[in-house]
Amino acid sequence: MPTLTDAVVVITGANGGIGRELVTQTLSRGAAKVYATARTPQAWSDPRVVPLALDVTDPASVSAAADAAADATVLINNAGANPPTASLIDIDDDALVANVEVNFLGPVRVARAFVPVITGRPGAAIVDVHSIASWYAFGGVYSAAKAALWSATNSLRLELAPRGVHVLGVHMGYVDTPMAAHAEGPKLAASDLAAQILDGLEADRFEVLADEITRQVRAALAQPLEALYPELLTPPS
Ligand SMILES: NC(=O)c1ccc[n+]([C@@H]2O[C@H](COP(=O)([O-])OP(=O)(O)OC[C@H]3O[C@@H](n4cnc5c(N)ncnc54)[C@H](OP(=O)(O)O)[C@@H]3O)[C@@H](O)[C@H]2O)c1
Repeated sequence: MPTLTDAVVVITGANGGIGRELVTQTLSRGAAKVYATARTPQAWSDPRVVPLALDVTDPASVSAAADAAADATVLINNAGANPPTASLIDIDDDALVANVEVNFLGPVRVARAFVPVITGRPGAAIVDVHSIASWYAFGGVYSAAKAALWSATNSLRLELAPRGVHVLGVHMGYVDTPMAAHAEGPKLAASDLAAQILDGLEADRFEVLADEITRQVRAALAQPLEALYPELLTPPS
């Protein structure tokens, strides 16, 4: 059963809106140490936080971080980024590849590096932060990459369950962080989301669906495609 008591937690994208909340809340739930990883690590006042350099798109950086955090028990794959456009047609090739790197290949790479580190330890777990975009294709390459990550999370869960590593996937709509600064409409507080993620982890759940819109989209996947995308029923003008 995953537990945060005495856990050693690695968090990617720890300087971001959700990442900072995850650092604070894992500690308040009893984690012994948190590796707060970032491309540019920041100083933290709590001595239990170890800032660590990690660019999820750089295999050498990922490998070095796994060596440095050799006592880890829990990995939270939280880092992610928006593409410059939600269009799959207008986006240039470099930006297309870069977004797949940060939102899909990066977290898979980080999981692969940390599996040998965490396997066999009490409370071993991986948390992958996806999005509602895994199931609702409004974000172009962002949605595609988050859908691919969701699938990879499912594969990792099947592969790692027999080894005693619990795998949790997280989906949510907008969260009030710099990433969603442009967005209108209701947003979850990052503190609320972090609490739901850690509640789900400690309850041994496989999935956290953090808001009502995400639960509705998840349910609509069982319907004909037009239920999720009613605009497809409108003829072209
Ligand atoms: N906010 C939302 O509405 C929302 C909704 C659904 C899902 N999500 C997901 O939630 C996660 C956290 O996002 P957030 O809302 O906290 O956004 P955020 O405040 O923009 O934080 C994202 C973090 O990811 C880091 N990052 C970007 N590229 C990286 C790389 N190559 N290597 C390592 N770290 C990298 C950023 O680091 P730098 O500071 O170095 O740029 C930043 O700290 C992401 O996976 C995002 O896709 C967010």
